[in-house]
Amino acid sequence: MKKKVVLTGMRTTGVLHLGHYLGALKQWIDIQNSGEYTCYFLLADIQALTTHADKPELLTKSIKEVLLDWISVGLDPSLDNVHFVQQSQIPARYELSMQLGMVAKYGEVMRNPTLKDEMSRQQDASMGFIYYPVDQIADIHMVDPMIGEGSELLVPVGDDQLSHLELAREVVRRFNYLYGELFTECKALVGKIGRLIGTNGDAKMSKSIGNTINLTDSDEVINRAIDRMPIDPARSVHGGNSVPGTPDKAVAIIYHRAINSNLNEVNEIENLYRNAQIGDRDIKERLKGVVREFLEPIRQRRAEYKNVDLTKILLEGNEAASLSCSKLVAEVRKRMHLILP
Ligand code: TRP
Repeated sequence: MKKKVVLTGMRTTGVLHLGHYLGALKQWIDIQNSGEYTCYFLLADIQALTTHADKPELLTKSIKEVLLDWISVGLDPSLDNVHFVQQSQIPARYELSMQLGMVAKYGEVMRNPTLKDEMSRQQDASMGFIYYPVDQIADIHMVDPMIGEGSELLVPVGDDQLSHLELAREVVRRFNYLYGELFTECKALVGKIGRLIGTNGDAKMSKSIGNTINLTDSDEVINRAIDRMPIDPARSVHGGNSVPGTPDKAVAIIYHRAINSNLNEVNEIENLYRNAQIGDRDIKERLKGVVREFLEPIRQRRAEYKNVDLTKILLEGNEAASLSCSKLVAEVRKRMHLILP
């Protein structure tokens, strides 16, 4: 029997923003709705400790917030093929992580460009941080279908995660070679991922910079951020709206492109901007409406789930992942001779 499994996740370090939605969640929802996969969505709370060990209280709050954010955008706990998993609550996953650590090579982990890049921005990295690329292999493979021929283990990620998946493949290939075929090599799924610049025009939305629009922000907060969005400097310097503008330089126009579903309107705005026939104020006012409309169903679902028992949802998902991981780990123990003499 062919089995198609998807696992992906996020660190739980705070509420999610529009960048998360366009860059990842939108794709996750499509995969879920295709109905072709058993989906595991991982709340990576241990991995969050790699950078936030001094703020553990933030994690408890974030786990609920992130899960609610996921559900509010359309990930659906009522579907049989969907499981939400809290990383720290799967005991067998730690064991798998250590077992895989014996097969992963120090050199290959330290060469990992994403890890290197993150290390260069950290003062005094913890051992857990250095180990996280290996630990993440255990995340992925705890739901390994383990039944060969035609089975799939897909991991939808952004391109910063591709080197981690490459490492995962190298390590399980080595395991399979040393101890006999067991693991399914994972495949990256890098779909048509959208990117969204920050409200201040920076290349990326980032909580630490404060240039995000969060899924949970109020209209007031959002409208203020939109009012402050940079416009084409050529316009602000000389004569405002009577000067032709370059759409790529107006943050509000870039946001229209990303979330305004009325493509005719977006084209029209761009043309009018080039011909000095529309004011930045007008574009921003329209954007406020577009964002409100975009968030409306998300806010509604969030309200619906406010009183639903999130713990119960997690317990169900944790159990599914634990079951799968325990089976795998029992087999790994045998293969690695981790048995009573
Ligand atoms: N490293 C991912 C991030 O920073 C989160 C993550 C943890 C993950 N475990 C995973 C992603 C397994 C994909 C698969 O967002």
